[in-house]
Amino acid sequence: MTDLLTRDEWLRRAAVPVARTRLWIDGDFVDAASGKTFECVGPRDGATFARVAEGDAADVDRAVAAARRSFEAGVWREAAPAHRKAVMLRWAQLIREHAHELALLETLNVGKPISDSVKVDVEYAATNVQWYAETIDKMYGEVAPVPRDSLTIVEREPLGVVGAVVPWNYPLIISSWKVGAALAAGNSVVLKPAEQSPLSALLFAELATRAGLPDGCFNVVTGFGPTAGAALGRHADVDKLAFTGSTEVGKYFLRYAAESNGKPVSLELGGKTPHVVLRDCPDLDAAASAIAWGVFYNSGQTCHAGTRLVVDRTIEDELLERISGVAAGLQPGDPLEPTTTMGTIVDRVQLERVLGYIESGRAEGADVHLGGRQAHPVQGGCYVEPTVFRNVRPGMRIEREEIFGPVLASVAVDDVDAAVRIANDTPYGLGAAVWTRDLSRAHKVARALRAGTVWVNTFDRSSIVTPFGGFKQSGTGRDRSMHSIEGYTNLKTTWIQL
Ligand code: NAI
Ligand code: MG
Repeated sequence: MTDLLTRDEWLRRAAVPVARTRLWIDGDFVDAASGKTFECVGPRDGATFARVAEGDAADVDRAVAAARRSFEAGVWREAAPAHRKAVMLRWAQLIREHAHELALLETLNVGKPISDSVKVDVEYAATNVQWYAETIDKMYGEVAPVPRDSLTIVEREPLGVVGAVVPWNYPLIISSWKVGAALAAGNSVVLKPAEQSPLSALLFAELATRAGLPDGCFNVVTGFGPTAGAALGRHADVDKLAFTGSTEVGKYFLRYAAESNGKPVSLELGGKTPHVVLRDCPDLDAAASAIAWGVFYNSGQTCHAGTRLVVDRTIEDELLERISGVAAGLQPGDPLEPTTTMGTIVDRVQLERVLGYIESGRAEGADVHLGGRQAHPVQGGCYVEPTVFRNVRPGMRIEREEIFGPVLASVAVDDVDAAVRIANDTPYGLGAAVWTRDLSRAHKVARALRAGTVWVNTFDRSSIVTPFGGFKQSGTGRDRSMHSIEGYTNLKTTWIQL
């Protein structure tokens, strides 16, 4: 299923009108209550290629009510674990069978290279759903060591209705983390995809129903953040909020919870990942490759992208040369061409933002070592060259703020202590990396780096089996691994007098 089609075939399929453009509520496609729709503008060429239902508060009410009904009826949470597992495994299988369709929707919406959409985004979404399916009949409760006159059972129960609001950088992957874990734990879900990437979620949800998920257990409301997203956040009948996106909006969700029913909130927010390369880096070629892919992949629109290179001054020249060498093979191209390795920026707004940051780097006195310009492989599209700044000083905006574009900022340092200090001098704490051949130095630096994931002599290796999330303003709570299931459950103690 992952064999790739030709560009002509992708173009032919892209010309067919998008089939699913309405809200998915209670197992059916429905129009927004207001009848309104909004445009999908493709970043590949700037053309409008679909119109999608614009859900708002009234639609969120409908979706939450459907989720609540399905939860209270127990059609999912009370079904036998073996049955729920079989349904989710079938769903994973259907995702794989629809890989080309899902991948095309992802690429049309956000401009990812089509081969990444097929081999990474859709494949991981299927893997994630499959993994969560497998947890369902492996979650055991506990018997607590209370006095012998009693029996005390401690179990995990689903929370109820989960509201998930996700961004556009990895629409299917991030949705599959949250929806997969929430459903595996027995909850019902309302998902609001980003307005830039509403399409893949609609097919993703329909496939769940086709796999046997009861109506109402997984609903999708497409629409904008301040309307549909805020309505979900403020809803008094939502029991948990799971959000990935900007730190600014993450803080809104804490406020929405506080101003409504005090529901728990998990947040996966921004990052400014430091990539520390010490003088005794074991393999400069491997480091250069990991650094380039780690910041330019997905055009840098990755929350844990390694955007800050903190490098020993004596090896900076050589490392930057090698990074440029790797970047030569990572130039923006037509996302529908199967050999393209770098696609677009998600939309005009984000394009202007990235170009603005590049301008600010120049204005603040950093030097452009590589790239720094918009590119035009397809007219009208949103493309930026892989860009490297050197002579960056801590505190410059390109060193401080999340850019969400293919921009690396190199800061030269003279020793390990300075490297750790600069690496940690950020409001974020999602990821960090260190390259050294000294075992104890590697451990010491890894301990000192304040981040949810620290890579040593590698970068961006990840798996559904490891927790993912941030320290500091990168958020709270975790996606992936059994730890993520904890976030979608409550502990229930049953105390029995014998
Ligand atoms: P955003 O945080 O505004 O959007 C993410 C999601 O939140 C979308 O579904 C959006 O509709 C929703 N949302 C937006 N405003 C909302 C509100 N007032 N109430 C409820 N929901 C709301 O991110 P945006 O504007 O697309 O990108 C801006 C910057 O955020 C990026 O340049 C990047 O720095 C960062 N970002 C980080 C991401 C991550 O993975 N950590 C993902 C996307 C963006
Ligand atoms: Mg925003």
